[in-house]
Amino acid sequence: GGAVLALDIGGTKTAAAVVRDGVLHHLPSAPTPTDSAAAIEDLVASYVDRAVVDGAIAGVGLSVAGFIDADGARINLAPNLPLTGHDLGGRLGRRLGLPVWIENDVNAAAWGEFRAGTDPRPPSPFVLVMVGTGLGGGVVVEGRLLRGGRGAAGEIGHLELVEGGHPCGCGLSGCWEQYASGTALLRRVREELAAGRASSLAAVGEQVTGHHLLAAARDGDPLAREIYAELGTHLGRGIAMLGVVIDPALVVLGGGVAAASEFFLPTLRAALAARTDDALPLPALVCSTLGGDAPLWGMADLAGAGFPG
Ligand code: BGC
Ligand code: NA
Ligand code: ZN
Repeated sequence: GGAVLALDIGGTKTAAAVVRDGVLHHLPSAPTPTDSAAAIEDLVASYVDRAVVDGAIAGVGLSVAGFIDADGARINLAPNLPLTGHDLGGRLGRRLGLPVWIENDVNAAAWGEFRAGTDPRPPSPFVLVMVGTGLGGGVVVEGRLLRGGRGAAGEIGHLELVEGGHPCGCGLSGCWEQYASGTALLRRVREELAAGRASSLAAVGEQVTGHHLLAAARDGDPLAREIYAELGTHLGRGIAMLGVVIDPALVVLGGGVAAASEFFLPTLRAALAARTDDALPLPALVCSTLGGDAPLWGMADLAGAGFPG
C-alpha cells in the first residue's frame, strides 16, 4: 500500500511518523491535549496537514490509550484521556476524507513488536506489558492479535490488585495501574514527600516528573530506589496473574518506565518467583527493543503500509 500516517495518542504525549516503503519517518511529538476530544481531533488533523506536504497518504492509523470498540473507530472508555464514548475514527474519517484505523495503544505496540521488533519473532503466546501514564497489555496468540468480544482483551491495567484501593480513571478502584504506572510512581513520591520523607526529590516537590525520579534513583536516593522497588513488586504480582490466565511464552516490558528497569527488575523477578513453581512456569521476560516506535510500527502494519522483508 501507500504511505500511512501513524500516531500514538498516549495519556501524556502523542508520537507520530509517516511510514513509507517500510521506513519510519518521525514527525515531532506533541503533548496530548487533555481538555477535550475536539482538541485531539485538531491535533490529528494538523499532523495530516504536515504529513501530506511530503506526498499523499493512503490512510491514518491511530493508537489510542483506551478501550477501543471492536468496530475499530469508537472509544468505549479512556481512563486517562477525554475520549470516553467518542467516535474518534468515524468523526476523523469524515473530516479528513481518509480511511482512519484505531487500535488500542498497547495492542498496536504488541503487534509492532511481533511484526518488526524482537528477532527472532516472539514465541506464542506473547504479551506486551506497557508501563506508561497508565498500564496496558497486548496479547498475540498464534500470529493473531487478541481483541476479545468487545475489543477490550488485554486491558490488564484494570485488574483489581488491591481491594478497596486507590480510585482509578476507569471509575473503579484498586486497579493494577494505580500501583504500577508512571502516574502511580509520581503519586507515591508526592505522598512520601507530603509525609515529610527526606529525599533529594523534595527540591522539585509537586513538579516531580519521571526524569527527576530516574535521576534521583541513579544518584542513590533511597526514596526513589524504594518507590521503584515497590513498582517491581506490583508488576511481578500482576504478571504472575497473567501467567495463570495466558501462560505466555514471553512477556515484553515496554513504556517510558522501562528505562528504569534496573531499579525494579529485581523485585519484579522476586514477586514472580514467589508465585511460581514447577507447575506454573515463569515466563521469559525481556525489555522492548522498539520502545516508543512499537505502536507506530504496529499501526502502520495494521493500516496496510507493510514492513521491509
Ligand atoms: C488504558 C488502556 C491503555 C493503557 C496504557 C490504560 O489506562 O485503559 O487502554 O492501553 O492505559 O496506555
Ligand atoms: Na490492550
Ligand atoms: Zn481502572
